[in-house]
Amino acid sequence: MELFSIRPIEEKDIDIILSLENQCFLAPWKKENIIYELKENPVSNLWGVESNIYGLVGYIDYWITFDSSTICQICVNPTHQRKHLGSMLLNEAIKDCTAQKVRNVTLEVREHNLPAIKLYEKHGFEKVMIKKAYYTNGDNAVYMIKQIQEGDK
Ligand SMILES: CC(C)(COP(=O)(O)OP(=O)(O)OC[C@H]1O[C@@H](n2cnc3c(N)ncnc32)[C@H](O)[C@@H]1OP(=O)(O)O)[C@@H](O)C(=O)NCCC(=O)NCCS
Repeated sequence: MELFSIRPIEEKDIDIILSLENQCFLAPWKKENIIYELKENPVSNLWGVESNIYGLVGYIDYWITFDSSTICQICVNPTHQRKHLGSMLLNEAIKDCTAQKVRNVTLEVREHNLPAIKLYEKHGFEKVMIKKAYYTNGDNAVYMIKQIQEGDK
């Protein structure tokens, strides 16, 4: 039986993340971007979802600065999508943000990325505005926010 668990991302995961980036994103991170997020960026937080059979199958990266957080990246291997693993990762990030007294979690998502927009809406994010030509290929971004109230668990 396949089981999943959440754990911190480690150096040994970098090549798998690179491969997932290339499978899942129009403008994937390069290896140096991943290394920066993992080893140098003081505000980044990286968690992975691990299958007991296939190893690392997804990850999330979010920044926390004082009482604000930004989701920078979330990705699940296409072979493992629609199994609520994206939700597991997002729940973990929001739990951590809540514990760290974050009040606003924001993100940008490509306007046509309906799976991701649906995921975020399911987890309480609301569309705030469209950022025109936000991405280098000219795509618009939807800017979304989730507010965390004091006392949320
Ligand atoms: C976005 C992404 C992380 C979602 O991961 P996932 O593990 O498939 O998501 P979940 O299974 O937790 O889905 C949660 C909810 O999101 C919505 N959703 C997810 N994928 C969807 C799809 N393809 N179509 C419609 N709704 C979708 C559904 O409401 C779903 O709940 P349900 O399955 O109970 O109906 C995944 O599609 C992915 O890695 N995409 C490529 C990378 C990417 O675009 N990341 C976002 C960048 S901003």
